[in-house]
Order: sequence, then C-alpha cells, then structure tokens
Amino acid sequence: MKFVNFNIDMYERVYELWKICGITLGSSDTKDQVERVLENSSDLFFVGIEENEIIAVVIGAFDGRRGYVHHLVVDPKLQKGGYGRLMMQELHKRFKEKKIHKVHLFVEVDNEGVIEFYKKVGWHTRDDLKMMSFVP
Ligand SMILES: CC(C)(COP(=O)(O)OP(=O)(O)OC[C@H]1O[C@@H](n2cnc3c(N)ncnc32)[C@H](O)[C@@H]1OP(=O)(O)O)[C@@H](O)C(=O)NCCC(=O)NCCS
Repeated sequence: MKFVNFNIDMYERVYELWKICGITLGSSDTKDQVERVLENSSDLFFVGIEENEIIAVVIGAFDGRRGYVHHLVVDPKLQKGGYGRLMMQELHKRFKEKKIHKVHLFVEVDNEGVIEFYKKVGWHTRDDLKMMSFVP
C-alpha cells in the first residue's frame, strides 16, 4: 500500500469511505472543516492507495501537546486484510518522527468491537479518564 498525504481533491472519495464504513459524520466533516485539518497536521493526515484507488484513510492530528487519531477506515471490501494495521504503523512512525509523547483516540460506545483492533496494534484503554466536550 502506498501512503499519500491527504489533499482536498481527495475529499469526495474519503467522505464516501467514511460514510460506507459507518463513521458518524457531522459539522466537522464538511469540505471546509476537513481542509482546516491541513493547517496544522498535513503530514499526519493521509490515505492508503492500492491499484490507484484510495482504500484507507486516517486523520492524525497534533495540537502542540497531544496527538490524536480520527476517522481511521479501511474499505469494507478489504477489511481484515492487514491494511488497518499498516495505516496505524505508518501513523505511529510519523508521530514518533515528530517526537509527540502521547496520542489519544475516541471510540464510540456502539463501536467497542474496534477496541480489539487497536489493542492488537499496540494501544491500551484508559479507565482513569472521562471525556468532556464543549460546543463554542
Ligand atoms: C477498524 C478498521 C480500520 C481495521 O482495519 P482492518 O484492515 O480491518 O484491520 P487489520 O486487518 O489490519 O487487523 C489487524 C488485527 O486486528 C483484528 N481486527 C480488526 N478489526 C477487528 C474488530 N472489529 N474486532 C476484533 N479484531 C479486529 C484483525 O483480525 C487483526 O488481528 P490479527 O493481527 O490477530 O490477525 C476497519 O475494520 C474499519 O474501517 N472499521 C470501520 C470503521 C471504524 O470503526 N473505524 C475506527 C473508528 S474509531
């Protein structure tokens, strides 16, 4: 699989992949908002390409202190074929190169099955934290 940094021309295909993979999409996923990710973390937001087609995507991000992972997906036709692991290995490498100390991600409670995947690629769950949100 070839890794290519996201550019906005890929938006339609990436959005379609997120949709068919069941990612909850909202106001942060419009074309304008997705383009804003590139202002800070353009080298952590990339797609995976096989036979000239985007088959996987992940948004890695860095806020100056912590790294984050959002919206990792692999084309449903190709899931369980090792591509998710390859995407995360590449992202881990990029976080390491940027000397980011700690990276977080969020799993929706109705998607808990995916926790097994993340554990297999080196992540651990936290039960000492509660997530809070604020809508400005
Ligand atoms: C999660 C996802 C990206 C994993 O990609 P993938 O290409 O299917 O994963 P891989 O084939 O690289 O799997 C790596 C390992 O995790 C396991 N695994 C993958 N998905 C799993 C799941 N849902 N439950 C349990 N184990 C899983 C694989 O069996 C494999 O195990 P092995 O190393 O023992 O063989 C993909 O299933 C997906 O797009 N899911 C829908 C979107 C989603 O939920 N994204 C995460 C948002 S937080």
